[in-house]
Amino acid sequence: MMMDDMFQNISSTVRGQIIQRPAESCEIDKPGPFCLVIFGASGDLTKRKLIPSIYRLYSLKLIEGEFIVLGVARSDMNDETFRESMLETVKKANPDDFSDSSWREFAKRLFYSKVEYSELNSYNSLKENIFALENEHQLTNRVFYIATPPTVYETIIENLGDAGLSQKCNGSTHIVIEKPFGRDPESAKGLNHILRKSFAEKQIYRMDHYLAKENVQNILMFRFANSIFEPLWNRNFIDYVQISVSETLGVEHRAGYYEKSGVLRDMFQNHLLQLVALTAMEPPSVFEADRVRDEKVKVFRSIKPFPLDRLDDYAVLGQYGDGEINGVKVTGYRNEPGVAPDSVTPTFAALKVFIDNWRWSGVPFYLRSGKRLSTQKAEISIHFKHAPHMMFDKTMKAGIEPNVLVLRVQPDEGIGLVIQTKNPGSRIYLNSVLMDFSYEKALMLGPYERALLDCMQSDQMLFVRADGVELTWELLMPVIERLESETRPDKFPNYAAGSTGPAESAALLEREDHSWKTL
Ligand code: BG6
Repeated sequence: MMMDDMFQNISSTVRGQIIQRPAESCEIDKPGPFCLVIFGASGDLTKRKLIPSIYRLYSLKLIEGEFIVLGVARSDMNDETFRESMLETVKKANPDDFSDSSWREFAKRLFYSKVEYSELNSYNSLKENIFALENEHQLTNRVFYIATPPTVYETIIENLGDAGLSQKCNGSTHIVIEKPFGRDPESAKGLNHILRKSFAEKQIYRMDHYLAKENVQNILMFRFANSIFEPLWNRNFIDYVQISVSETLGVEHRAGYYEKSGVLRDMFQNHLLQLVALTAMEPPSVFEADRVRDEKVKVFRSIKPFPLDRLDDYAVLGQYGDGEINGVKVTGYRNEPGVAPDSVTPTFAALKVFIDNWRWSGVPFYLRSGKRLSTQKAEISIHFKHAPHMMFDKTMKAGIEPNVLVLRVQPDEGIGLVIQTKNPGSRIYLNSVLMDFSYEKALMLGPYERALLDCMQSDQMLFVRADGVELTWELLMPVIERLESETRPDKFPNYAAGSTGPAESAALLEREDHSWKTL
C-alpha cells in the first residue's frame, strides 16, 4: 500500500487552548420568520442533510421564531407521511440533540405538497399553499431550496418565475441551488441566465458546502487577523502549497450521477478551487460578501491555463480497483452498482496549478482528491522554504525539515505548525515539534446548518457568485475535455482501494523534490 510521507520526527505536540473568548463570540444571530420550500423533498439530500440540519438548528434554539418547511416533490405523500419519512434520519443524524418531545413540536412545522415539476398549473396550487402557510404563520421570508437532480433545475426555476413566486412585496425571497451547477461553462452560463430572468443575483445562493465548513471559514480569519503570517504568505517564503481531500467512501449509490461527472467535475471545479481561492486571495478592504467574492474571482482569473500539450506534467487521473480499507475488503469502482464494466470515469485526480501574480508566481499549488483512499481527511498545507543558511548541516545529517503550516479542514478541525526545536540534553540535535490548535470541544455547526442560517439571514459570503462558477468551469474544461478524450479503458483501474492513489500522483511532486505530506 502506498503511504503519504508523515512529517518526520515529530517528537512532541503542544496543544493550543483558547485563552480569551469575547462574550459576543458565542452569540449567533437568529433568522426572522421563514418559509423554507424544499424541491426534491423525497430525495437523499433532503433526508440526509437538509431536514436533520433544520432540526439541529431548532433543537439548539438557533431558529426559535415562526418557521415552516414545505417539502415539494413528485411522489405521492401527505404531511403525515412526509413527517414519518424524516424521523429516522433526523434521529440518526442528531443522536445528542434528539428528543421525542422536541421532534413532536418540530414535526408540526413540516408540510408536503406534490408538484409536477414541468406543469405550470402545479405551481399555481403550490403558490396557494405557500401563501396560506405564510399568512397563517406570519412568515416574511421565503427560501426555495432546489435539491432535485440537476436535470430539472431549469424547469423548476422558470416555473417559479412564471408562477410569480420569485418576488415578494414584503420580506425576502431567496433561492438556493445545489451543486452540480452545470457540467461545463455553457450549461453553467445557461443556468445563470435562466436564474437571472426571475431572480436578482442578491437572491441567488449557489451552494458549495465546503465554504461553510468551520475551518474553511477560518482561513480568512487566520490569514487576516494575525499579523505574523501574512508577511510570509507569498513566493519569497513559501515553497509550495498542498490541498488534499481524500475520502475512504466509494461512489456508493450515486453511480448514475458520478459516471457522468467524475472527480474533476465533482470535487475540483467547486470545492478544491474554492479552497485555492481562499488560500491565495488578497485581503479585501472590508469583510463583505461581494468584496470577498471579488478577490476570489481575481484568483480564478490569475490561474495559469494548463499546458494541454504537456498535461502529464500537470495532471494525474486514477480509478480505484479492489482493495482493503480499515481491514475490510472493498470492490473496485467498475464493480459498483450502476457503473459500466469498462468505465473510464476518474475517481481520483491530482493537479499542479500555478497562479500568475506577484504574490504566487512560480509557487506550485498541488491539489488532490479521490475516493476509496486510505484516509478520510481534508487538509491545506503551506510548505515554507528551507532556512537560507544551514549551520547545523554537519550534525544533522538527515537534513532539517522546513516549517509547515497545516489547516485541517476535517476531521479534527484545527491548525498545526511544524517547527524545529533543540532536543534537550544532546549537544545539537533538532526535533520537529507540532504546535497544534484544535476546535475539538467547540460547539460547531455543520456546513448545511451554517449555510441554511446564512441564507435565511441574507448573507451570501459562503455562497458562490455567478462569475466565480463560470470562471472555474472555464478553467477546468479544456483539461477535462482533453483527459476525457485521451483516457482509454485499459488505463484503469490504476490504484487499489485503501492506497493513497496512483503512483504517478507521487511522481508528479517528486519531480520537483516535493512530496504529499499529511499530519
Ligand atoms: C460532494 C461530492 O460535493 O462532496 C461527493 O459530490 C463527496 O462526491 C462530498 O463525497 C464530500 O463532502 P464531505 O463534506 O464529506 O467532505
